[in-house]
Amino acid sequence: KQIMGVIGHPIKHTLSPLMHEAAYNALELNMAYLAFEVKPEDLDKAIHGIRALGLRGINVTIPHKVEVIPFLDEIDDLAKEIGAVNTIVNDNGRLMGYNTDGEGYLKSLLQCLTNDLKGMHVLIIGAGGASKAVALTLAKHGVKAMAICNRTIEKAEDLAKNCGKYVPSLSISLEEAEEQINDFDIIINTTSIGMINENELPISLKKLNKKKDIYFSDLIYTPFQTKLLLEGEKAGAKTLNGLDMFIYQGALAFERWTGHEAPINVMREAVTKHLR
Ligand code: ATR
Repeated sequence: KQIMGVIGHPIKHTLSPLMHEAAYNALELNMAYLAFEVKPEDLDKAIHGIRALGLRGINVTIPHKVEVIPFLDEIDDLAKEIGAVNTIVNDNGRLMGYNTDGEGYLKSLLQCLTNDLKGMHVLIIGAGGASKAVALTLAKHGVKAMAICNRTIEKAEDLAKNCGKYVPSLSISLEEAEEQINDFDIIINTTSIGMINENELPISLKKLNKKKDIYFSDLIYTPFQTKLLLEGEKAGAKTLNGLDMFIYQGALAFERWTGHEAPINVMREAVTKHLR
């Protein structure tokens, strides 16, 4: 049996095992996927354990996505640029690091867009790990322009500078984002605001009067619809939650490990059934 898994801390709420195992069952693959609780001080030992135990692949989640990099043998270019790894492939003891978060997001976005990504002016709220993956992937796929706002402005500045290598990118203050809200075609929340306190918005939508051709997107999927998405929908916007990003990042990892096309619908069904 080939063994895959996910390392994180805490890890008990992860939906990855049920999503991947549903895929293995559907394709009758002799594989298993386990969740491993790994404390930060044990990360190096856990990574050596992948080689020692001959695990085929590991997903990496909070808080290890950045810290794991020095322990791997090779990092793919996009993951290097993002500065974080969420997928490890073990090729006969050689550990390769990838980041499928940004590509996963891009796939989920392309599924729901009716307009061409190339014409889009994107606002990204937040400048942490998830934001970097999403912003750099969108920048590399040639959106029209990007603005990044964040509570800590320096992080937005750094990220805008990196994205600026590919498309015009600015860091703006949260207030400027609120003022300019009608200038954007997609507004993406990458912060955790709206997850724990369901009444919180990452930015105020008071100035929003654009009703058509605007997308509100949130990387959060518990709750299924954050206040940002609910308010966006009320205003007539199309919305996209983070569920498909989660499914597609998993599907991309699945494909790297198994060489099989991921059964997306089976994976989505397994997760949705659990969340319902
Ligand atoms: P992730 O990997 O989920 O992106 P992260 O790298 O810790 O996690 O980034 C969290 C992001 O959410 C950051 O942009 C953070 O803002 P700061 O850079 O100012 O810390 C943002 N964030 C989290 N909680 C927040 C809050 N209560 N208010 C505003 N921004 C918040």
